[in-house]
Formats: sequence, structure tokens, C-alpha cells
Amino acid sequence: MTASRMAKHLYIQTVGCQMNVLDSELVAESLLRAGYVLVDSPRAADAILFNTCSVRQHAEDKVYSALGRLKHLKECRPGTIIGVLGCMAQKDRHEILRRAPHVDLVVGPGQLGQLPQLLERVAAGQGPQIEVSLDRGAADRRRVQASFAPFDPQRAAGVRPHRHQAMVRIMAGCDKCCAFCIVPRVRGPEQCRPVQEIEAEVRQLADQGCLEVTLLGQTVNNYKATFEGRTVRLSDLLERLHAIEGIRRLRFVTNYPRHMTSDLLQAVRDLEKVCPYLHVPAQSGSNAVLRRMKRGYTVEQYREMLAEIRQTVPHAAVTSDFIVGFCGETEEDFQQTVDLVRQSRFKNSFIFKYSARPGTRSASLLADDVPEAVKRRRNNELLAIQNAISEEDNRQFLGRTVEILVEGPSKTGRKRNTGEGVVQLSGRTVCDRIVVFDGPAELAGRLLTVEIVKADAVTLFGELPKG
Ligand code: SAH
Ligand code: F3S
Repeated sequence: MTASRMAKHLYIQTVGCQMNVLDSELVAESLLRAGYVLVDSPRAADAILFNTCSVRQHAEDKVYSALGRLKHLKECRPGTIIGVLGCMAQKDRHEILRRAPHVDLVVGPGQLGQLPQLLERVAAGQGPQIEVSLDRGAADRRRVQASFAPFDPQRAAGVRPHRHQAMVRIMAGCDKCCAFCIVPRVRGPEQCRPVQEIEAEVRQLADQGCLEVTLLGQTVNNYKATFEGRTVRLSDLLERLHAIEGIRRLRFVTNYPRHMTSDLLQAVRDLEKVCPYLHVPAQSGSNAVLRRMKRGYTVEQYREMLAEIRQTVPHAAVTSDFIVGFCGETEEDFQQTVDLVRQSRFKNSFIFKYSARPGTRSASLLADDVPEAVKRRRNNELLAIQNAISEEDNRQFLGRTVEILVEGPSKTGRKRNTGEGVVQLSGRTVCDRIVVFDGPAELAGRLLTVEIVKADAVTLFGELPKG
């Protein structure tokens, strides 16, 4: 048999946040080591894995319909392994097998390290395998925490879409009690990774030619660990990672408003490699709504925090998340969110319609009473206001030169080739603004400066310097 006939083919599809994108990358790496090769179509695969998201209903619906479409394939090729990984697996476990009995594997985010063995068991005919962590409240915290095993295996350069960019988890889980959010339930208690482990991973990435590292955590600015008898917070961690040769840019997401401390803002101001980019979700501009959401701050406190960012790091790009149509949100509450968006001048905001998630406090205690049409209207209205601000904000770059890290061909560039090796490329500024420009494909992975000649709400259009 030839090597390629012996290799097992893996297809993995990812829904959801950056944490899921990272998990899929790490799953793919661990399975490559177990002898799989990646393919880009489920039809060509021996194992089809979905890494899933439970944050909104829509994300779950997408996976259930994709699973439905695979029923026929499974009938024709019973040997194909179909797996559901991640947050939906933790939340829905038995429900998944009930709705899609052709699924072979259900693996929660705290069990991903077991995947190679679980796949082997399915292949050996041992039937469907379900591995999930303990539910919160099912045992004491220590046991629940232990059941969410860390999954941060060795990094190989091969699987990342861009060799010069990487995400690194610094903490898993979440201990906040935002009423709408399923994350603490499906990702388990907050656990910070040891400093030395993070440092070793970033050093290894730097050795592989990685220039930009994004540190991930649900409340990343609450990072805390003990190292050599001292407490290391995010500001200290950034300082340590800043010293690693080869790394040029450091980012971190997502920030929790109440933990945006002065030492962290000073680190962003003083450490050259730390990008002045801060994602700090506000969720709402109404105190009544924030209280029902159990966010733990008032809009006045959010505004004060924002003022301190503006004062300490005046050129920082601040971005936010908002939920519209949360339980009991009145027109007046919504107008307060509109005011916050108008006044805060976020670089951009992610706006979501409230989606009641079974198992969360708001789903069990509060009525989902804002009609869908009203949610939709508020969503569009807020988005239009934010877009106008984003466009104005982007226009200040016209005629200016910015430094970008080139990621590779843009979406259009992948389809359209302008000839003579020149394609439309896309890169990002330190503030995470997208810049597209025409240039030779070999510029991918380079840090260079371009002049901005055009701007809209989401994109800056640049030109390489002449000559
Ligand atoms: N701290 C996390 C938040 C995860 S959820 C992070 O790393 O980003 C991401 C965003 O989804 C939240 O900020 C919130 O705006 C939105 N969201 C969470 N639960 C939601 C729900 N039930 N309905 C609508 N949007 C929700
Ligand atoms: Fe969710 Fe709030 Fe944590 S939005 S991830 S519970 S900070």
C-alpha cells in the first residue's frame, strides 16, 4: 500500500470564536502526529470533525443542519467517523446523539487531548464515544476544574493559516456570571496557564518565525499566576514576552471592563511591541440592563475606564461587543446604548441580538420578551451608527503611511490575479485595521509600510511606496 492510501484523511470545520479556531488548530496538530492528513472537503475525509459554538442559537443550528446533511454520506460510507467537538458537545452531549444518531464522537473542550485515542476506539468498532467534563455544580470546584483538562500541546508551524501569526491561550474557562452567557458552563472554571509554559510556547513560536502573538482568555486582563514566588499579572506577563527576540507584536483578547487596571494600560503605553488595541465589551449602555445582565459595573464605571484608556494610551483602538434586545430592554434602554456608542468612538463593535441559551441564568429567570423584529431593528440601527463612526475613524488615515504585517492574498486577491505575480494582498496595522494593497505575493509575512489612499468602514486601501 502507498503512504497516501494508508494515511487517514481529516476534515475539520470550526464555528465560533478565536478560542475555537485555536483549539481546531491544536486538534489538527495532534491528529497529524497520529498519522492523519488534512483535507479540505468532507467528501474526501475518513474523519469529519465539527468544532462547535454554543454562544448563540444560530451557531448550534448551523451544526445540526450540517450533521443532517452528512446522514446520507454515513449511510454510503459507514466507516467515516463523524465527531462533534467543543462547546456544543459539552452542553448537548446526549441530545446530539438523539438528533444525529450517525455521530460517533462527542468531545467537550476539556477532553480534546483524548481525541487520538477516542478516534482509535471508534475505528476499532467500540461504538460511539462521549467524553465531556463535569458540570459546574456537579462536584466541588477542584474536581470540576480538574475535569476540564488543559489542552495546549506542542506547536508545529504547519497548520496555522499564517506562519508568522499565532494565538496562544493564557487562560481557559471563565468565572464571571454574566446572565446571558453559556461560556462558564461549557468551558468550565477559570484556569490560568503557568508563566513558564506560556513563555516556552511563545519562544518556540518565535523560533518558527512567528512575528505576532495574540494571547487568548475569556477575561484575559484578569490573568494571574505565581512564578518564582511572585504574582505575575497580565502587565508582567507582557513585559516578559516583550523580551523574547523575534516577536514583533503582542495582542490580547478579551478584556473585562472591571479588570482594566492602570498597570496594564501603562504596559500597553510603554512596551513597544504591545499593540494599542483593546477589545473591552460593554454589552449595554443602560444600567438597568447591565444589572440584569449581572455584568458587575455601571455605565458610568465603563465610561471612566474608557476615559483612563484614552488618557493613558491616546492612540489606542478600542472595540466593543453589544447585545441588543436583552430581556426587558426598553426603547429608552436601547437609546442609552446608542448614546454610549456615539460617544465612545469605538474602532468597531460586534453587535448581537440576544439569544436565550438554555442553562443560563437569563434563560431560566427572565422572559425573552423583546420581539425578534425589534431586536433586528435595534441591531441594524446600532450597526449603522457604529459603521459611520468606523468610516470616519478610518478616513483619518487618508494620505498617511502605516506599518502593516502582510497576511497574504486578500479575499479578492485569492480570486483575481492582476498578472505578473502581483495580487491584492491584505495586512493589518497594530490597531488591527485591515489594509489591502496590490503587491507581489512574496510579501506575505513581512512588516512594511504602505500609504493609505482610500478608506471605508471596514477596510483601508493602501499603495506600496513608489520606486
Ligand atoms: N469573554 C468572551 C465572551 C464570549 S461570548 C470573549 O472572549 O469574547 C462573545 C460575545 O458574544 C459576548 O461579548 C456577547 O456580546 C455575545 N454573547 C454572549 N452570549 C450571548 C447571547 N446569549 N446572546 C447574544 N449574544 C451573546
Ligand atoms: Fe461570558 Fe461574561 Fe465570561 S460574557 S465568557 S461570562 S465574562
